[in-house]
Amino acid sequence: ADVFTFDPGYTSTGSCESKITFIDGEKGELLYRGYPIEQLAEKSHYLEVCYLLLYGELPTKAQMDDFETRVTKHTMLHEQMRNFYSGFRRDAHPMAVVCGVVGAMSAFYHDSTDINDPWQREVATIRLIAKLPTIVAWAFKYAAGQPFVYPRNDLNYAENFLHMCFSVPAEEYKVDPILAKAMDRIFTLHADHEQNASTSTVRLAGSSGANPFACIAAGVACLWGPAHGGANQACLEMLREIGTVDQIPTYIKKAKDKNDPFRLMGFGHRVYKNFDPRAKVMKESADEVLGLLGIENNETLAVAKELEKIALEDEYFVEKKLYPNVDFYSGIILEAMGFPTSMFTPIFALSRTVGWISQWKEMMEESSKIGRPRQLYTGAAFRDYVDVAGR
Ligand code: CMC
Repeated sequence: ADVFTFDPGYTSTGSCESKITFIDGEKGELLYRGYPIEQLAEKSHYLEVCYLLLYGELPTKAQMDDFETRVTKHTMLHEQMRNFYSGFRRDAHPMAVVCGVVGAMSAFYHDSTDINDPWQREVATIRLIAKLPTIVAWAFKYAAGQPFVYPRNDLNYAENFLHMCFSVPAEEYKVDPILAKAMDRIFTLHADHEQNASTSTVRLAGSSGANPFACIAAGVACLWGPAHGGANQACLEMLREIGTVDQIPTYIKKAKDKNDPFRLMGFGHRVYKNFDPRAKVMKESADEVLGLLGIENNETLAVAKELEKIALEDEYFVEKKLYPNVDFYSGIILEAMGFPTSMFTPIFALSRTVGWISQWKEMMEESSKIGRPRQLYTGAAFRDYVDVAGR
């Protein structure tokens, strides 16, 4: 019988089993393989978290060294990919460039696209984690009109990314360990988030047997929207538009007005009906980074903090359980580091790549059916074709 459950937006549809990430939205809890995000953000580092997400356990020293060596060995991009960049307009949004370049990876690395070969799946996984920082940094350099900076394998993952973004031939960027740690923490906080829109997109693409690079490109595309990963750019632009603390009530009023499409960016979440635990860590990190850079009187941070305070006391936001999410404070840190807003979502994409590929790997290791939602048809009933003269 052709019976199915109608669930637009998949608010109550479980699409898969997974052992990777757990969220308790009521409590505001996020666990990667059982470990709370707060502990990982404080004590671990991004590549270790990548290992944990991919293989299920924290690595031993030897396992970590081996993983790090494998990742660093793959940080370069095929030299011909340089040419690929120059096909884009300089004023293209870096997210458009990243989407295209990641999609093109299957053209350059087709020796790791056989999804039925576990070794090729592993190579594709390592390549994606290793090359995404280079791809994203080069999108930044291309937009800035600066020469591409090659990866340096003596630096750690976050340091190398900052180096590729901010070094110029005339002057090597001096990586500050505290900024590198903050960058690493941003990567860690974004690493996975179970079946969100982009991850579900990756799984859906993967369910058809598409190659991993094509699947991740689909994830990048989905992440771009302002309701998802694009919220970090939209949030900072909103905070700048609000400008001063005295303007906040006007924007709160707009956000509550049903006839106004405006929403408070960086607020609300499908699953969290409590504080997003990532937002708490991000807020502390923002204070630390701005302090380090001597930007104590940052108006954007002041607006963000006051906006959070007012919203959390407002009946509308309380009733609807709308709390700050991960995107609320991340932009302030990235801006302080020197990134333009257009780079925020590409940085999210590079961080989330490990989550996407872990979920894809998990799916590939189990037998799964092609993802194929049903629909409720509301169009015209059967009718006969009418010749143009008779219309
Ligand atoms: N500002 C004002 N009202 C809001 C907001 C907001 N940010 N978010 C939700 N609401 C209201 C919404 O109007 C609706 O009201 P009503 O029930 O009266 O129609 C109610 O709260 C429920 O909202 P919804 O859109 O049905 O909830 P959802 O689970 O479909 O959407 C969301 C979740 C994250 C898309 C939404 O909260 C939103 O648009 N937030 C702003 C964008 C944002 O910050 N996105 C980042 C999400 S977290 C990280 C990521 O995925 O990248």
